[in-house]
Amino acid sequence: MRASVLSDWLAQRLERGNGQPVYRQLHRLLQQAILSRELPAGTKVPSSRLLANELGIARNTVTQVYEQLVLEGYVTSGTGRGTFVADSAPDEIVGAPETAGGPRALPEPPGAQRVQPFQPAARALSARGARLVAGAGVSKRQWGAFMPGVPDVSRFPAQVWNRISSKYWRRLRPELLTYAPGGGLALLRHVLADYLRTSRSVRCTPEQIIVTTGIHQSVDLAVRLLSDPGDAIWTEDPCYWGVRSVLHVSGLRSRPIGVDAEGIAPSPDDLANPPKLMLVTPSHQYPLGMVMTLARRRMLLEYARQHQCWIIEDDYDSEFRYGSRPLASLQGLDTAGQVIYVGSFGKTLFPGLRVGYLVVPEALAESFATASAELYREGQLLQQAVLAEFIAEGHFTSHIRKMRTLYGQRRQNLLDAVARRYGDALPTVGGDAGLHLVLQLPQLPGGADDRKVAAAALERNIVVRPLSGYYAQPARSASGLLIGYACVPDEEIVPSFELLAEAIDETVGRVG
Ligand SMILES: Cc1ncc(COP(=O)(O)O)c(C=O)c1O
Repeated sequence: MRASVLSDWLAQRLERGNGQPVYRQLHRLLQQAILSRELPAGTKVPSSRLLANELGIARNTVTQVYEQLVLEGYVTSGTGRGTFVADSAPDEIVGAPETAGGPRALPEPPGAQRVQPFQPAARALSARGARLVAGAGVSKRQWGAFMPGVPDVSRFPAQVWNRISSKYWRRLRPELLTYAPGGGLALLRHVLADYLRTSRSVRCTPEQIIVTTGIHQSVDLAVRLLSDPGDAIWTEDPCYWGVRSVLHVSGLRSRPIGVDAEGIAPSPDDLANPPKLMLVTPSHQYPLGMVMTLARRRMLLEYARQHQCWIIEDDYDSEFRYGSRPLASLQGLDTAGQVIYVGSFGKTLFPGLRVGYLVVPEALAESFATASAELYREGQLLQQAVLAEFIAEGHFTSHIRKMRTLYGQRRQNLLDAVARRYGDALPTVGGDAGLHLVLQLPQLPGGADDRKVAAAALERNIVVRPLSGYYAQPARSASGLLIGYACVPDEEIVPSFELLAEAIDETVGRVG
């Protein structure tokens, strides 16, 4: 199209009174004419005065449109030279045609080449992304009977938290509202080091602690810094689906290792293939609940020392141990600096807080702090200050004490309800610590049907997780249900269990 016919072409297409500002219409029409090469590169467009006169619109409108097109790279202009279509126009129309409900799309100029809109679809996911989504274990429900892994958040001392928090907001310190320096708030690292030394026998200085948003992020960081894609990692089988996904997306090759009464139990074949990393839950195997014996801990540490492997110790809920004192960490036994200890406030306070921590060997502390700030651009320092004061004033340990008693009662109520209904027919395991126990289901000839039981329970508004879903190797898989009792009010334990029992009986037949 020659510039001389441009005014007519535009005049035919500008629609007055259709609700769209003339500026917007003119801008879009010129973009389209340039993209479709109707106005070829180098064409001189009419001056703003001329075009405004011919279209009967304000000159200012044309000037603004030209200025916008210059900014977007469609045209160039030089003082006294005029305005020219740029040599290479942007590939895509800025602002795709609007859809239903929005302003009407403008008519296309003749010969316009349609730009295919980007259509995000499932097939657009990478192989890694697709695997992650297809294998996701996360549940839509995160609260209610018998949600495993969730503490009773309704008992959180909100008033105390609010008092400390209000104080920080009143005396606002800008440094608490900006990005976090690597590793997190110094005060929190200090009080945490004291707590971990005395309560979990973790050997550390505050500098060895890296504050994160929880165990997921801690494992992600450790894996990124200590391994390369393709490296092997030992995981317990069964294990927590969340960290398994974190490992998979990092490109690690997981080698699922069976567990026995003493914890992770590598076979001779496993031992002949040393991994780069291993991930274990020594204080409370997840989800089966056994405690790694001292002999197994020593064996693992010695093996890791000989083969130069890292051990990630996931100590997610061992504060809640009923009937005996919480057990010392594996990290506390490590003299070679091979253990990366990860913990969380998700179970001790509330999951939505999203605060966790790593304890790394001294030699790695600086690198981990830098990498954490670099990768995640951490913040939440004000929240960390509140948490530090909450711990320093003794509220943290007192909350844990109270919750331990409360969860202990709920656990007992649940065990009594199971025994009343099923006697010895359905044994439970893993209830000595933590927030859940596992109810074993009969192994039916057709295989584990715990998924069907979980689905039948959900129809009754009861959330349980099928044990079989935690196994990587189907040959090892066992049928059972993870029942979280911690978040269920005392008076709801028995009626909720009755509903669950209905679902069990309906699915696997009357037991006991
Ligand atoms: C074994 C285990 N590790 C880690 C987590 C998650 O920890 P966080 O919420 O700190 O990411 C869970 C949550 O249930 C868990 O069961």
